[in-house]
Amino acid sequence: MATVLAIETSCDETAVAIVNNRQVCSSIVASQIPVHQQYGGVVPEVASRQHLETINQAIAQALEQAKLDWEKIDGIAATCAPGLVGALLVGLTAAKTLAIIHNKPFLGVHHLEGHIYATYLSEPTIKPPFLSLLVSGGHTSLIYVKDCGRYETLGQTRDDAAGEAFDKVARLLKLGYPGGPMIDKLAQSGNPQAFVLPEGKVSLPGGGYHRYDSSFSGLKTAVQRLVQQFEKNGEQVPVADIAASFQETVARSLTKRAIACALDYDLKIIAVGGGVAANSGLRKHLQATACERNLRVLFPPMKYCTDNAAMIGCTASEHLALGHISPLTLSVQSRLSL
Ligand code: KG4
Ligand code: ZN
Repeated sequence: MATVLAIETSCDETAVAIVNNRQVCSSIVASQIPVHQQYGGVVPEVASRQHLETINQAIAQALEQAKLDWEKIDGIAATCAPGLVGALLVGLTAAKTLAIIHNKPFLGVHHLEGHIYATYLSEPTIKPPFLSLLVSGGHTSLIYVKDCGRYETLGQTRDDAAGEAFDKVARLLKLGYPGGPMIDKLAQSGNPQAFVLPEGKVSLPGGGYHRYDSSFSGLKTAVQRLVQQFEKNGEQVPVADIAASFQETVARSLTKRAIACALDYDLKIIAVGGGVAANSGLRKHLQATACERNLRVLFPPMKYCTDNAAMIGCTASEHLALGHISPLTLSVQSRLSL
């Protein structure tokens, strides 16, 4: 049973958690959202500085909340890739330093692996093989999880990530940053059938469409045209109906691809991860369709959908149990496939 102190600083959350396998002993997430809100998106340089100012306090809080001291910690982990280089460096350097001072094993964790295993935090028994639908601000992928550390990407987006599409459409609707939660909230009062929007199919060279890949840039452009049309006619933009129709289209598109993939590969479980896993439309659609097809869908607890360190700690526990550790020379990488 490994108790891991984990750090996540890949983007705009300074997060520290202590996790004992799948059990969260403490989880601190210091969000920078209010700081970046004034710029309409994440400013990398500002993010790094914020992490630097917050990290020591977040580590102290995580230990205090868990009522643990260093003797009880078996390993120290941090996200090493992908993400903003300056932001990642703060967390990784802190983790390495702590590992040296307290003489503990150190492990660098891939951010997407963290999102894949976030469902473990509420599921004590699930294990591979399963299909991961990873939908975050930077990624939209269908990943065949064969075992811890053995992954095959079966589908991905050809342009924008699902979360990115939510953020861009929210900007078009003047809803602010981050867009996903704002659209989700607004969609509750809109009509999802108000507008028919393009699903964004990816053509195959020989004809037909890719079953697992998605595309969201055409959908975003369609929303843009719709907004422009209302503005040109001097009419009020029906933001709630557009938000609901957009969300419905994304939810249907992701559901269709995930179900097709799970059935084709005979995988009985779909584990969703990433910020868009918090979306109510996606949860509803995927759950209902999976139920019809006798598949099980697992979503992480809401607070572990968006970036957090508990998912990094849980992933590190899995790896440490297999004897995996990283050298202290490990560096950060802005891009790294699984
Ligand atoms: O996983 P995450 O916290 O960060 C990345 O690794 O990218 O995901 C952030 C993304 C943002 O694009 C945000 O708009 C989206 O997740 N998001 C949502 C919701 N909550 C967060 N998208 C749709 N509905 C939500 N409720
Ligand atoms: Zn993330």
